[in-house]
Amino acid sequence: MQQLKNIAVLAGDGIGPEVVEQAVKVLKTVSEKYNLGLTFQEGLIGAIAIDETGDPFPKATENLCNAADAILLGAVGDPKFDNDPNIKVRPEQGLLRMRKTLGLFANIRPTVMYEELADFSPLKKERLEGVDLIIYRELTSGIYFGEKSTSEDGQSAQDVCYYEVSEIERIAHLAFQAAQKRRKKLCLVDKANVLESSRLWRRVVQRIAPQYADVEVSYMFVDNAAMQLIVWPAQFDVVLTSNMFGDILSDAASVLSGSMGLLPSASIGNANYLFEPIHGSYPQATGKNIANPMATILSVAMLLRQFDLDAAATDIEAAVHRCIQEGFVTEDLNKERFLGTREVGEKVAEFLG
Ligand code: IPM
Ligand code: MG
Repeated sequence: MQQLKNIAVLAGDGIGPEVVEQAVKVLKTVSEKYNLGLTFQEGLIGAIAIDETGDPFPKATENLCNAADAILLGAVGDPKFDNDPNIKVRPEQGLLRMRKTLGLFANIRPTVMYEELADFSPLKKERLEGVDLIIYRELTSGIYFGEKSTSEDGQSAQDVCYYEVSEIERIAHLAFQAAQKRRKKLCLVDKANVLESSRLWRRVVQRIAPQYADVEVSYMFVDNAAMQLIVWPAQFDVVLTSNMFGDILSDAASVLSGSMGLLPSASIGNANYLFEPIHGSYPQATGKNIANPMATILSVAMLLRQFDLDAAATDIEAAVHRCIQEGFVTEDLNKERFLGTREVGEKVAEFLG
């Protein structure tokens, strides 16, 4: 395992800079406590990068990411690009190009429940008991990156869902290894009753499953999985799926816990590791010191764990949990009694002591 020293910080757009600032504060606190000697370097991505350089993922940022041991990302996106279908350069292109060029092939999204926040969930309490699942979404291939075209007369268009065995294998191995460290269950979600590419996923997963004999494998069609995530989410441990199915299911899974503002994610490649909150740039809240920094702070815990710094990661998770228990939260989690983004970050840092 490579050592963690140098972190590229890409704050991005909207509330990105505010939540990232708090996460960096927390990282600096654990860096001192555990003598990690972490260093930070900032780079541009998204709308702000377009404004300053014309490119949502400038070469300088790519170089910075490649030189860093890990990347911390805030959020990407600005409404000024959303309503004009003729705009050529968009912030999201930066995100997609970053994933592809850095080879971030596995997107990992845990859904963790906090008992104290069960009332925020759209599901009834009894359906939430025992929910602890993690989605492994393939991130650099499939329909997102397959051949795309629009016919010359503009009357038809296509996006090809293309997968290679090697692309399925590498994420399947990560998902199986994760299952081995968890409840030892893996569910492949696909549409193998219709799609050839899904049948390839099944063949690959069936072929490598015997290497992980202690993991119980199941298969589920994606339409059923969308339903099962709502009626009985506790049945899932590790969910393995392709790019677009994972995009859709991870949004569904993200609301189970009741707050998007709490959920971290990791995107893993062979040489790069990126960590970000799953929420977006939340433009309406920009600059107001109201955004919940906990998802980004918990992303930092995932970052540390990736580098086997388990004690520091556990400290952060415990500090966030204590803030929730003692009511040091932003407005989204308590309308009557709340703190600002900065103050929550400071509380987490203080509890790290
Ligand atoms: C996500 C987002 C992105 C995706 C968008 C912004 C391109 O929805 O990270 O899940 O579709 O992958
Ligand atoms: Mg999405």
